[in-house]
Amino acid sequence: MSKLLLIDDDRDVHYAFQRSFDMPEIELTTAPSGEEGLRIIPKLKPDLVLLDNRMGTGMTGLETLRRIRQSDSKLLVILMTAYGTTQTAIQAMKLGAYDYLLKPFDVPKLKEVVLNALKAAREMREGTRYNFEPGGRPLLQPEDLESEIVGQSAPMREVFKLIGQFASTDTTVLITGESGTGKELVAKAIWQHSDRSKGPFVAMNCAAIPEQLLESELFGHERGAFTGAVNPRAGKFEQCKGGVIFLDEIGDMTPPTQTKILRVLQSRKFERVGGNASIDADVRVIAATNKVLEQAVAAGEFREDLFYRLHGVRIHMPPLRERKDDIPLLVKYFLHKLAVRDSLPSTSGRGAGGEGHVPVLSAPAKSIASSAMKALERYHWPGNVRELESQLRRVCVVAQGDVVLTKDLPPEITGGGAATGPVLSAEAVTSEGGVSDLSVVARQLFQWARRDPKLKIIPAVERELVIQALKETEGNQVHAAKLLGITRATLRKRVEKHGIQRELKIL
Ligand SMILES: Nc1ncnc2c1ncn2[C@@H]1O[C@H](COP(=O)(O)OP(=O)(O)OP(=O)(O)O)[C@@H](O)[C@H]1O
Ligand SMILES: [Mg+2]
Repeated sequence: MSKLLLIDDDRDVHYAFQRSFDMPEIELTTAPSGEEGLRIIPKLKPDLVLLDNRMGTGMTGLETLRRIRQSDSKLLVILMTAYGTTQTAIQAMKLGAYDYLLKPFDVPKLKEVVLNALKAAREMREGTRYNFEPGGRPLLQPEDLESEIVGQSAPMREVFKLIGQFASTDTTVLITGESGTGKELVAKAIWQHSDRSKGPFVAMNCAAIPEQLLESELFGHERGAFTGAVNPRAGKFEQCKGGVIFLDEIGDMTPPTQTKILRVLQSRKFERVGGNASIDADVRVIAATNKVLEQAVAAGEFREDLFYRLHGVRIHMPPLRERKDDIPLLVKYFLHKLAVRDSLPSTSGRGAGGEGHVPVLSAPAKSIASSAMKALERYHWPGNVRELESQLRRVCVVAQGDVVLTKDLPPEITGGGAATGPVLSAEAVTSEGGVSDLSVVARQLFQWARRDPKLKIIPAVERELVIQALKETEGNQVHAAKLLGITRATLRKRVEKHGIQRELKIL
C-alpha cells in the first residue's frame, strides 16, 4: 500500500485525483494548503506528495517544498503548476523536487508519473548504504580510502591470502589482470604489509617513458653520460633503497630494457648510465601487466628467462565480471568514499586534516535502490573496478536525492542500448514502439547531457537524427528528408554542416 498526499486548494483537483487513483494499492489523503500539508506529513508519512504551486492563500508550493525538504530530504515531491514557466520548474528541481507536472493534467500522463514516482519511493525505502558509526562518523578514514581493497568473492579471498602469505618475504611478485582490476592497489598492499613498509614505494610505468630515457630513469646516470646529463642523478632503483619498486606495464618494455631488468634481478646489482661503480639493488620488485605474458613469450616479444624470474609469485586479478558478487560491496564502499571525499576541505588533498582528524560527513553517503544495484550487477564492466568507481562519481552528480535510482544510471548500464549515445528508456516509448511524449525524450536527453558537460545538445541531436534517417533509408535523400520533415536541400545542408558524408560514405 502506497500513501499519496495531495496538497492543493482546488476541490475539483481533489475529486479528479480521487477518481484517478481509486486503486486498492493507493491510499490518497488531501490537504487544502501548504501549512496543513506540513502539519500532517509527520504523522501520515506519505510515500509521495503532489503539491500545487499557486494556492489561494498562505504558502506557495515552492515554499512548502523547501520546508518539506528541510525536514525530510527523502520524501518525494512532485510540484504541479498551472503557470508552467521554466523558472518555476527549474526552481522546483533545484529545491529537490522529484519531478514537476503542468496543469491541466493529461490523466494517463499523471498516472504514469505518479506510479513511476511511487515505484522510485519503494526503491528508496529498500536502499542500502555502507554502515556508519553513530554520530555520522565514517567507518573508514581518508587514508584507508587510498588503500582499501574491497572484495569478498572467492577469487578475491585467494588474492588476500596470497598477499598475506608472500608480503613478508622478498619474493618478486608478478601481478596480472585486465586494466582497472586493482593491480597497483595490490602492489601497495604487499608493500604495506612487508618488512619494507618503512621504505619507499616507487611506481614506474614502463610503457609511459620513451626507450632512450627508461634506462636512466631506472638506474640513474653520471654527469656527461649523454647530452643533457649535466648533473649526476639517482634512478628509481636507487631512490627505492629499502623499499619496493613497482614496475607497471612490464609487458610493454623493449627487449634491451628487459635484458637490463633481468640482470638486476639475477645479480642484485646495477650501474648508473655512464658509470662504472656497481650499486647494490636493495629493492623488492613487484611487476604488473595487463598483457597475457605467456602469449608475449610465445611470440618472442618477452624474454622467457625474465618471465620466470618475475614469476616468483603470480597474483592474478580476476575481471570484475567474474566476481559480480563483489559489486554490491564495492558500490556501497565507493558511495561512502565519495561522501568522505566531499566532506574534506577541498584544498587539503590526500591525508587531509592532519593527524587525528576525523572528518564528519557533511552529507551522508548516498544509498542505492535495489533495482539500480541489480542493473550495476548485470553490466559487464569492461573497465573493471576503475570504471565502476568513475561511473558512481558521475552518478552521484546526476542523482538528485539521497538515493541513487535506476533512472540516474547511464543507458549503457541499464541496458538501454548502445554504449555510444543516448537511448530512449522503455518509459519513453509506447507499446507500439512510437514515441509517446517528446518531453520524456527531452528529459532523458538532458540527463545524458548533464553527464557530458561538453555536449551541445541541439546540434548533437540534429546530427544523430540525420544519420539515423539516412541509415534507415539506405541513403535515399528524398525519403530521409521526408522522414525528417525537411526539404532535400535542407537535408544536404545539414549533412554538410555535420560532416556526415565521410561517416556514412554515401551521398
Ligand atoms: N578491490 C578494490 N577495492 C577498492 N578499490 C579498488 C579495487 N580495485 C580497484 N580499485 C580502484 O580502482 C582504480 C583502479 O585500480 P588500479 O589502478 O589498482 O588498477 P590497475 O589494475 O593497476 O589498472 P591499470 O592496468 O589500468 O593500471 C583505483 O582507483 C583503485 O583504487
Ligand atoms: Mg595500474
